[in-house]
Formats: sequence, C-alpha cells, structure tokens
Amino acid sequence: MIAIGSDHGGFELKEAIKKHLEEKGIEYKDFGTYSPESVDYAVIAAKTARSITSGECERGILCCGTGIGISMAANKVKGIRAACCSDYFSAKYTRLHNDANILCMGGRVVGAGLALELVDVFLETEFEGGRHQRRIDQITAIENGEL
Ligand code: RB5
Repeated sequence: MIAIGSDHGGFELKEAIKKHLEEKGIEYKDFGTYSPESVDYAVIAAKTARSITSGECERGILCCGTGIGISMAANKVKGIRAACCSDYFSAKYTRLHNDANILCMGGRVVGAGLALELVDVFLETEFEGGRHQRRIDQITAIENGEL
C-alpha cells in the first residue's frame, strides 16, 4: 500500500499520480487534501508519514508547491527518510543509496509527465544495502541522539 498526500500546492499533481497508480493497479491510501482549498502541509505530512512508520503503508508520495515544506515536515517523523526530487537520477538513487521511504515533489516545480516517471522509478527501485546500510544506521543514530 502506497501512502499519498498533498497540500493545495500539490493537489493537482497528487490527483494525476493517483490516476497513474490506478492504471498500474497499485493500491494507495489518500491522506488528503481532497480539494484545492488552502491547507497546511505539515498536517498532511504527519498523517502520511505515520502511516509508514506504523507499517500500514510501505512507502509514500507527498506533494506541495515546491516539495520542500512537506519533505521537511515528513522528515521530523522518526523513521522517515523523505527525499524531495525533481530529476530521475535523484529519485532512483535515493532508493538505491538512502532507502528513502517517501518521495516528495513540487506541483509548481515538476510537470505531471516527469513526476510520473519519478514515481515509477522510486517505486520500482530497491535499496542496495551494503555500505549504505551503515549510513542509514547513522541517520537513525542522529534521530536517537546517539550521534
Ligand atoms: C503553499 O503556498 C506552499 O508554501 C507550499 O505548498 C509549499 O511549497 C511549501 O513548501
């Protein structure tokens, strides 16, 4: 199950991503927002991110105007590694090397065509592990106040 969420700045892009996931037969849970009315991205980020740390969803996709605010908010949830991407290489390597569990994008930054390519590579790419696991463990150590 893929968690998906946005504020008003990413609403249109979120809807395009939902349609894309439906066409691919990928199940998702939409944590809002459900209209183009103005909302606060941190609230959506928290709900979406917690669905991943609780185990309800495997990975997430979050959109706001830039992708930045919603990624900053999501990264405050322990266990979340949210990556704000607007290019293919970053969306791929944040899975391979960072084991990112949320892809963030800006609805005012990327067009739907590119965004759907980023979604596909993010969802299809597995974490490489190896030396990268040590670095993920160090990120976790920072969260726990051990580093
Ligand atoms: C909302 O206007 C906008 O600030 C928000 O979508 C996002 O870009 C914040 O980082």
